[in-house]
Amino acid sequence: MFSKRVQTLATSPTIAIDTKAKAFKRQGVPVINLSVGEPNFQTPENIKKAAIKAIQEGNSFYTDPSGIVELRVAIANKFAKDNGLTYDPSDIIVGAGAKQITYSIFQVLCEKGDEVIIPIPAWNTFVEQVKLTGAKPVLIKLKPPFKLTSEIIKKALTPKTKVLLLNTPSNPTGAIIDFKELQKIADLAVKNNIFVVSDEIYEKLVYTEKHVSIASLNKKIKDFTITINGLSKTYAMTGWRVGFASGPKEIIAKMKALQSQMLGNISAISQKAGVEALNGEQTSVMMMKNAFAKRRISCLKKIAQIKELSVSEPDGAFYLFISIEKLLGKKYPTATAWAEALLEKEKVAVVPGEAFFYPGYIRMSYAASDEDLKEAFIRIKRFIEKSSGDRV
Ligand SMILES: Cc1ncc(COP(=O)(O)O)c(C=O)c1O
Repeated sequence: MFSKRVQTLATSPTIAIDTKAKAFKRQGVPVINLSVGEPNFQTPENIKKAAIKAIQEGNSFYTDPSGIVELRVAIANKFAKDNGLTYDPSDIIVGAGAKQITYSIFQVLCEKGDEVIIPIPAWNTFVEQVKLTGAKPVLIKLKPPFKLTSEIIKKALTPKTKVLLLNTPSNPTGAIIDFKELQKIADLAVKNNIFVVSDEIYEKLVYTEKHVSIASLNKKIKDFTITINGLSKTYAMTGWRVGFASGPKEIIAKMKALQSQMLGNISAISQKAGVEALNGEQTSVMMMKNAFAKRRISCLKKIAQIKELSVSEPDGAFYLFISIEKLLGKKYPTATAWAEALLEKEKVAVVPGEAFFYPGYIRMSYAASDEDLKEAFIRIKRFIEKSSGDRV
């Protein structure tokens, strides 16, 4: 019945766990949901007000499929100010979240016979979206502390390599690619005629070093790079669905053609809210980042107190990618089994490493309230203690 393309396609594992946790919550079960990657903050007031005004002013019509000019100008200004990247607003595309943007990029660039290099652990969606094009995802395994280097990429290059996927800061590890390596990676991509798809959606959530966009390093790499970003994480706007990208003119033009057939435009109201997010007051961004920074430190301290767990300190994003290898055995042979039991027994939802092509680990989001995080560690500790006898 189904096309070959979708036969092995499954719901995103993160979404599947989030759905289960939210169902528990609806039933009144006191579940702590550290699975999905979304800030626990409300969208800032100024953005909400802009959306209400947009409704009242009658923004109820189709827009340019690639986004209203006002928003694309705001995005061009953002790229210039934050990333040192000059793009014409006509070379910017707005889509229904960065997720839809990456889908379009892979559809436009990849097909059967192509290879796409994806460092793992990686966001599941990248791999599934590449597979949907018929291209082959080539997964390159990073070891803790999960820092991508040009040497690792070099080993995976073949004449079929078409795209290199970068995600810095990374979901799920929070790792940022070191500046010197980023330069070497840029040279490697240019030398080998490889497109770079650079997902920088966590760029504002960095705690140890500055974020650098690979496309800003020089003109040559800029011509090979599509830079992706969005409003979900920075502005607590996951439900509004605003993502965007810019890159070589011809690629963006093809993405626009695809989007005009696939989606039309994203909500006109979300676009108006997006203009305010980018052009308006930025204090709430700083406030949220500071809260995440504090939680990052307190969670790292809690993990250090549980000897069975280990974690590499993340540079950015709001995740901890934690090794639970010491806890796996007869009773819970995999991270998936362990995470399922944690949800069943202690009602804490985390994502097993298998969802990131990296068994033996779990991803925990610390974009949750301080109280929830505190309680989550009490429950996790209890779960580990209770199941310690069952391990072997
Ligand atoms: C690396 C990465 N890119 C993109 C997204 C999707 O963001 P959006 O809400 O803009 O679709 C996520 C969300 O978890 C992500 O982790």
